Amino acid sequence: MISIEDLSNREIEELFRLADGMPAGEREAKACAGKIMATLFYEPSTRTRLSFESAMQRLGGSVISCPDMRSSSTAKGESIADTARVVASYADVLVVRHCWDGAVQAMAEYAEVPVINAGDGSHEHPTQTLCDLYTLRKEKGDLKGLTVVICGDLKHGRTIHSLVYALARFGAHVVTLAANGMELPQYVIEKLEREYHYNLAPVASDDLHAVVQETDAIYLTPTQPHQLALFTSVDAEAQSRLSKMVSGIKVDAFYVTRKQKERMKPEGEAGNGGYPRIGEEFLKEKRFKDTVVMHPLPRVDELSQELDRDRRGIYFKQAAYGVPVRMALLKFLFEASATGKAGAAEKRIPLYESPEPAAPPCANANCVTRTEPVSTRPRFEVLFTGPGGGLILKCFYCDHQLKVQYMGHTRSRKYCPYDIALGETVRDWLGRGELAVFDSIKHAEERGYEPYKSGPQRSIMDEAEIRDAVRRMSEEILKESEEPDRLLILGIRTKGSYLAKRIAEELERKSQKRIEVGEIEIYGSGDDLRRLPSVDGEASAPSVKERAVILVDDVIHTGMTVKNALSIIFKSGRPSSVRLAVLVDRGHREMPVKPNYVGKHIPSSEKERVRVKLREVEQDERDKVVIYSIVSPEDGDQPPAIRTEL
Ligand code: NCD
Repeated sequence: MISIEDLSNREIEELFRLADGMPAGEREAKACAGKIMATLFYEPSTRTRLSFESAMQRLGGSVISCPDMRSSSTAKGESIADTARVVASYADVLVVRHCWDGAVQAMAEYAEVPVINAGDGSHEHPTQTLCDLYTLRKEKGDLKGLTVVICGDLKHGRTIHSLVYALARFGAHVVTLAANGMELPQYVIEKLEREYHYNLAPVASDDLHAVVQETDAIYLTPTQPHQLALFTSVDAEAQSRLSKMVSGIKVDAFYVTRKQKERMKPEGEAGNGGYPRIGEEFLKEKRFKDTVVMHPLPRVDELSQELDRDRRGIYFKQAAYGVPVRMALLKFLFEASATGKAGAAEKRIPLYESPEPAAPPCANANCVTRTEPVSTRPRFEVLFTGPGGGLILKCFYCDHQLKVQYMGHTRSRKYCPYDIALGETVRDWLGRGELAVFDSIKHAEERGYEPYKSGPQRSIMDEAEIRDAVRRMSEEILKESEEPDRLLILGIRTKGSYLAKRIAEELERKSQKRIEVGEIEIYGSGDDLRRLPSVDGEASAPSVKERAVILVDDVIHTGMTVKNALSIIFKSGRPSSVRLAVLVDRGHREMPVKPNYVGKHIPSSEKERVRVKLREVEQDERDKVVIYSIVSPEDGDQPPAIRTEL
């Protein structure tokens, strides 16, 4: 049981009926007799682990555990796959908490016994949701029609993600109040829209009363996000947003969560600014007289202690129900596996796995496919209904989404931009295992794919012109650099890296100073920014902090690649400036990016392709730049009938 989606509503109801009869009477005391549960917790836990262990013992079963996973073979470098295989041979059920999104799914693939997710990274925490729903039902009766305001860190809170899916399924209203920068992730919102037809729309707080009557959920964003982001101390502001937001609507429950500090990067991630706080003062208003306050715990300071004595504060009940609910779940799972019916756990959708070795990775850096490639293969569910008709790959492990920009046919080694009109072609290639996907033209061509049909090639820059352009750009860079020592030349892999090296060599020659060169991998495996080893023998990431970065690429077109490179740079630190050098600027920008240094401007048509050939990559060839036209796969020599993004 990895996701709350692994249980149907009917099964959840059945579980709750079972839980009503727990803790055990005579009969339940034997339900797990002779069975062993292993608890593998790679992250701290009080409630989840101890209530699971208590539940198992009350059912007559026993528990084995590792007091601290850092004292297990994990510390010696054992993969999660091996740990899962081995522990599954010692126990009848595994309960696992892990810091990586999707890690429990990965372990379940290797374990021969049922595996229960006790929280995987920021992804899901389905058994907490069972406790939450059970508590809400006990307090409020039917879940349908309830209005639940979820507050706090909705981005990293795994309890929140499982909870909103379940509330949606049971027909409750969900109102979100996120702390600044900690809104529900896009993939969660899209899933709510796609699978539950939740119509999530930003609304002003004044419209809430009207909207809540006819909508199932409301997704609130500040009306002036940029201004809000500038506040450094917005406690009062967050509080007034909270009061305004809920004015006029009947609120059945506030579900409060703590800021998940451990999931935030030390620098750069949101989390400053105000955080909604619930206390007696806030709940004083008459209309909240029956509003319950829930929290998965542990609380830090988002929930005031005064509520402990208030009948509306039900978070300790929520924690206490952990035992009967988990007893019911264990009993239910053992019965289901004994009768061979694994509940709804079967994931029937055919999954896409790239036939190309260098496929775009999952977009989530904390996904187990990126943190532990030895135990996983990137696999995706293909969604043909992404926003704007895009083709979306949904990671099987962590649910994050990836938009397919270009698709290729493995047999003919041809590629073209994805368009909704090509849906049937994609299904066909997918069915035959011949679909390759790329996140850029650069990626496709580096894998040896050619555009679907190309016209004759025309040379537009020769070796001497390229050499002169590199020299001229280097001179300009030096002229505009007060402190050449602070320069960091970063090439976008692969051709940008070779050009970056050439530029750095020129700069070293002219300035007589040592110039640091690195490269950025746009579709890498998380090792995004690195020093070029041939320059100083080290492959570690260069520091970008307070450096004058010169980003180098061969061709600039839409600007998307540069945008991605910039976000990788800013993720790893704050440079004092970033300037852009490109050998060819061919126009058609979609992003507001302007290169500072350009080798040559080549106005090209949308259907043309500019290709830089460098001797480092194409051994037999001299440096040159060529231009040619491309034609879509469907239309032979006819102009493309589909909209092309080239
Ligand atoms: C939660 C968790 O671990 O995700 N705790 C829990 O299981 N009750 C919430 C949290 O840590 O904030």
